Amino acid sequence: MARYGILTSGGDCPGLNAVIRGAVLEGNAVHGQEFVGFLGGYRGLVYNEVKLLTRSAVRGISGRGGTILGTSRVGPYVEPDGGPDAIKAVLEELEVEGVVAIGGDGTMAAANRLMEDGVPMVGVPKTIDNDLEATDYTFGFSTAVEIATEAADRLRTTGDSHMRCMVLEVMGRHAGWIAMYAGIAAGAHTILIPEAPESLEQICEWVVSVKDRRRAPLVIVAEGFTLPEMADAFSDRGLDEFNRPRLGGIGDILAPLIEERTGITTRATTLGHIQRGGVPTAFDRVLGTRFGQAISDVLADGDWGKMVALRGTEIVRVPFSDAVGHTKNVPLGFYNGARALFG
Ligand code: F6P
Repeated sequence: MARYGILTSGGDCPGLNAVIRGAVLEGNAVHGQEFVGFLGGYRGLVYNEVKLLTRSAVRGISGRGGTILGTSRVGPYVEPDGGPDAIKAVLEELEVEGVVAIGGDGTMAAANRLMEDGVPMVGVPKTIDNDLEATDYTFGFSTAVEIATEAADRLRTTGDSHMRCMVLEVMGRHAGWIAMYAGIAAGAHTILIPEAPESLEQICEWVVSVKDRRRAPLVIVAEGFTLPEMADAFSDRGLDEFNRPRLGGIGDILAPLIEERTGITTRATTLGHIQRGGVPTAFDRVLGTRFGQAISDVLADGDWGKMVALRGTEIVRVPFSDAVGHTKNVPLGFYNGARALFG
């Protein structure tokens, strides 16, 4: 029986467990495959920390948030123990023929490098940010949008009661997908995204026009949004494990500026990791399950170096090179369509 490894790497994301379950069930039932899970992302692959993924180990997990394997941002080339030779030795010892890496851009870049160094790898894309160019949607995004929309709805009732301007900051790194979807769904009066800097004057104009209609303004801001005078997205939390600035805090910058300029009492809420926690939506469970099943088929074909992706309603295979380093931004036409209704 052919045996394969699965790992989840990078930030966690609702739907990861559905992928693991989908791969194990399809692999067992259709292809006669067996799976082990590497614990804590690439760290488990380097340090040979595994658990057997039987049918019963994945029973009922698709509705659970997080990942049963744990995750980390440790890369496979971690010094001094990582690198292709160490990893090949682990795979040989476990009689594992290849590895499924479930992750975002950094995970896929590492998988691609391992492939080039002779380690058989395939990939499944994940991120709540929905910013991978190679796929129409990533699982996790739908759940994050639902949570952000509910938060916005809740802010609206307290904002209405006090006639305050409420600012909700959502995640997304340098893409505004979560802000756009949650903002449109919640009927926000202003949506601010990294792809479309807006001046403070313009933002305040929208806020005041809402107040003039005797409504409480609701502003949704993506963490990567910049005012025109800002060179980079706001960050005062240091770097993450990939040496990228940790974003977050622009809502707290904006709220006092809006209050000062408009005289309207303004409060900011940063939603943070709540967007990544808890049960996945049905959409994310279905997409995760389909990705999991599809990656088992990729393994059966020995189609190494491929990542599964959603195009329209179809699951397709794309080379790692197509998947890495291409950020999918919110198209300006989409933003401008929503912007026509701001204020
Ligand atoms: O990429 C997913 C994401 O949740 C981003 O939206 C956010 O900027 C980042 O990860 C937060 O990372 P961490 O979990 O390391 O704080």
